[in-house]
Amino acid sequence: MWCGCASGLSHEPGEDAMICVSVGRGSHRHLLSERKFLAETLGAKLVEMRLDYLQRVPELSQLLPGREVPVVVTCRRKSDGGGWNYSEEQRLVTLRSAIAAGVEFVDLEEDIAKKIPRYGKTKRIISYHDFLSTPSDEELDEIHEHLSAMDADIVKIATMAREPSDNLRIFKLLLRKAKQKPTAAFCMGELGVPSRILCGRYGSVLTYCSGNAERLLAPGQLTFQSMVQTYRYDQINQETEIFGVIGDPIAHSLSPQIHNAAFEQLKMNCVYIPFRILPTDLHSFMREVVPALGIRGISVTIPHKEAIIEYLDKYDGAAQNIGAVNTVMIDGHQRVGVNTDYRGVLESLEVGCRERWNVENPLAGRRTLVLGAGGVSHAICYGLNRRGARVTVTNRTLSRAQELGTRLNLEVIEWDKRDRAEYDLLINATRVGMYPNVNDTPYPVAKLNPTMVVFDAVYNPENTLLIKGAQQKGCTTITGVDMFVRQAMLQFNGFTRREAPYAVMREAIKRATSVVRY
Ligand SMILES: NC(=O)c1ccc[n+]([C@@H]2O[C@H](COP(=O)([O-])OP(=O)(O)OC[C@H]3O[C@@H](n4cnc5c(N)ncnc54)[C@H](OP(=O)(O)O)[C@@H]3O)[C@@H](O)[C@H]2O)c1
Repeated sequence: MWCGCASGLSHEPGEDAMICVSVGRGSHRHLLSERKFLAETLGAKLVEMRLDYLQRVPELSQLLPGREVPVVVTCRRKSDGGGWNYSEEQRLVTLRSAIAAGVEFVDLEEDIAKKIPRYGKTKRIISYHDFLSTPSDEELDEIHEHLSAMDADIVKIATMAREPSDNLRIFKLLLRKAKQKPTAAFCMGELGVPSRILCGRYGSVLTYCSGNAERLLAPGQLTFQSMVQTYRYDQINQETEIFGVIGDPIAHSLSPQIHNAAFEQLKMNCVYIPFRILPTDLHSFMREVVPALGIRGISVTIPHKEAIIEYLDKYDGAAQNIGAVNTVMIDGHQRVGVNTDYRGVLESLEVGCRERWNVENPLAGRRTLVLGAGGVSHAICYGLNRRGARVTVTNRTLSRAQELGTRLNLEVIEWDKRDRAEYDLLINATRVGMYPNVNDTPYPVAKLNPTMVVFDAVYNPENTLLIKGAQQKGCTTITGVDMFVRQAMLQFNGFTRREAPYAVMREAIKRATSVVRY
């Protein structure tokens, strides 16, 4: 089996690996001001000016003088995923004029490369895009050779990832070809995100990202800020250890922010990456991608928490009882699964409840109502049971609550009757109140009692309607952010054997939840 992990590399990754930040705006003025902002405020070192987004024919005399940083001029047709509205002749004139004006790089699609001769010092990026799939190894080699032969300074190949292993195919291409000819290669689409973060490790001279979260110019593009601040792209090298989170969907996950912030704080040469893995791709991810990339640890989220068990060598008793694993630690061929949700929530509840009831085991004997019977509810109920709480569970779909109740020997009540009895501790383990439905609450706030402790597992936003209502009523509150940070700290410790930096991780998630809203 191919191994592209650090030790399997036969070459040094490109020392010149750079981030190229793509900018596409409707007006000349906005294009220029965004370039200036990226270069002077955010520190971008290479900007791609996507002239095809301009709403009038580009005026290079306005766009090219006074460049703050080197620039790639690109002008994509609609058929190549761009927005060019004018004639092909006009496009070729624009590209030739950019070269005549001495721009640092020009991007030429393979079919026009021969029509536009080399001139002056402008470097030629000869590009190939496949928006449907990632070709086979043989086809990629042919494409690379074809592009190289077109007087290319850099060969650029961007293909659509249809499955996680497509990223590996691109990395293998880089390992075969990047030494012969400077090459930029990565996969597009959400499944291709890992390749955008890791391509430099395999020798890609460029990765592309967007200057602006609201204007992503290619499928799967990350923003410049996340490339630099979250993933520290510039620092990824052969020795960098890879961790990640798998799930579907995955774009909303805050785990990359929190774990990468911890790695940075502790100056560890590690990166944590989001992998969107469809249920049908779990097998090939675990069997092929994990060993090939040398992944050292995986956080597991919906829908894989149960299915992952098949791929483990062992997992602990708690994960067995809960029936779900959210963390996999990988040491060589050994894969060990644990459930940190359960330990994280218990820590949160114990710390919070001790504020209210100052006793050694503040959960013992507490009348507790758990709303929800999904994955996180299982972990919470299991933990509460172990601490001797008197747990009642309710769920919109009664049969799921009954299943959970039977499994853990809990009282079960109907969803509509949830506010009829008195409880010491109320726990929301449903999705109700989660962004974007921030005006929903799973429990009528008017029925809250000031003596209650209220915990909401929802962490985006931190201050859900339920938490805000409970605070107004004078209840003690514990938020999902606290649980999220604690379970992530336990993961971090399991992955690295290092103590996790609580304050940094908490700050990272606070920052992320104040910005990330999807
Ligand atoms: N803080 C943390 O560290 C942490 C960790 C994991 C999860 N979470 C959060 O916990 C929540 C649940 O996650 P999960 O993994 O358990 O999800 P899950 O397995 O999909 O379960 C979802 C639960 O929410 C209920 N639900 C969904 N929409 C509802 C509605 N409109 N009204 C009433 N009930 C509704 C479902 O009831 P039905 O069975 O009737 O569909 C089910 O009980 C999510 O908000 C998640 O972000 C937090």
